[in-house]
Amino acid sequence: MNLILLGPPGAGKGTQAKRLEQAHGLVQLATGDMLRAAVASGNPLGQRVKGIMEAGHLVPDAVLIEMIESRIGQPDCASGFILDGFPRTVPQAEALDAMLKARGQKLDHVVLMEVDEAALVDRLGGRFSCGACGASYHERYNRPKVEGVCDICGSTNLIYRADDRPESVATRFAAYRNQTAPILPYYKDSGVLTSIDGMADIDEVTRQIEAVLAR
Ligand code: AP5
Repeated sequence: MNLILLGPPGAGKGTQAKRLEQAHGLVQLATGDMLRAAVASGNPLGQRVKGIMEAGHLVPDAVLIEMIESRIGQPDCASGFILDGFPRTVPQAEALDAMLKARGQKLDHVVLMEVDEAALVDRLGGRFSCGACGASYHERYNRPKVEGVCDICGSTNLIYRADDRPESVATRFAAYRNQTAPILPYYKDSGVLTSIDGMADIDEVTRQIEAVLAR
C-alpha cells in the first residue's frame, strides 16, 4: 500500500505516519526529516537548504524529486510507503505520478488532514521533536511516556525546530496556501483523495485514517 498524508504545517502528518509505519510495516518517507538530516550532517545539500528551511520557504522541486526518486527505488519501500511532506507542488505531484508509473506502482490513498490555522499555531508553538528519528511531541497534547526520552527510538536528543518560530510559521502557511493547496484538485480528480477531521485528538485521527485505509 502506498499513501500520501497531506496537510498544512502542524496538521499531524508526522505523528500519524509514525503510527502507520508501526501498525502496517510501511516505510515513512518524510522529506522534512531527510532535509533536516542533511542540514545536521553539514553536507553540501544541507548547507544549500538550511537557510531556505529556517525561513519557512520550500526547497526547489528538483532537489525533492531526485531525493524521493532515489528513495522509493530502495528495497525497503517495495512493500509500501507513506509520503509525509511530498508532494508539495504541482510539479512534484506530476513527477511522482511519472515515477510510480515507470515502476508499475500506484497511489492507493491520499489523506488530507484538515486543521484550523489557530490550532496549527498552537500545535507548532508547543512542538518538540526527536533529533534522531524525527518523532513529534507536544508540551501539552503529546508528551513522551518517559520525560526527555523519545518513545520511538529512545534518544534523549529532543529539540525545538528553528522553523517553528512565528515568523517562519507564517511563511510556511503561505507556502501551503499558494504552492501546496493547488495539488488538491489534482488528487480529487483522480479519485484517491479523502479528507479527514485533523482537529480531533491524536487517537481519533488515527482511527479515521485506519477507516480510510480499510476501504
Ligand atoms: P516538514 O518537516 O515536512 O514540515 P511541515 O509540512 O511544515 O510539517 P510539520 O512537520 O511541521 O508538521 P506535521 O504535519 O508533521 O505535524 P506533527 O505530526 O509534527 O518540512 C519542513 C521544511 O522542509 C519545509 O518548510 C521546506 O522548507 C522543506 N521541505 C520538506 N518537504 C518539502 C518538499 N516536498 N518540497 C519543498 N520543500 C520541502 O504535529 C505537530 C504538533 O502537533 C506536534 O507537537 C504533535 O505532537 C501535535 N499534534 C499532532 N496531532 C495532533 C492532534 N490531533 N491534536 C493535538 N496535537 C497534535
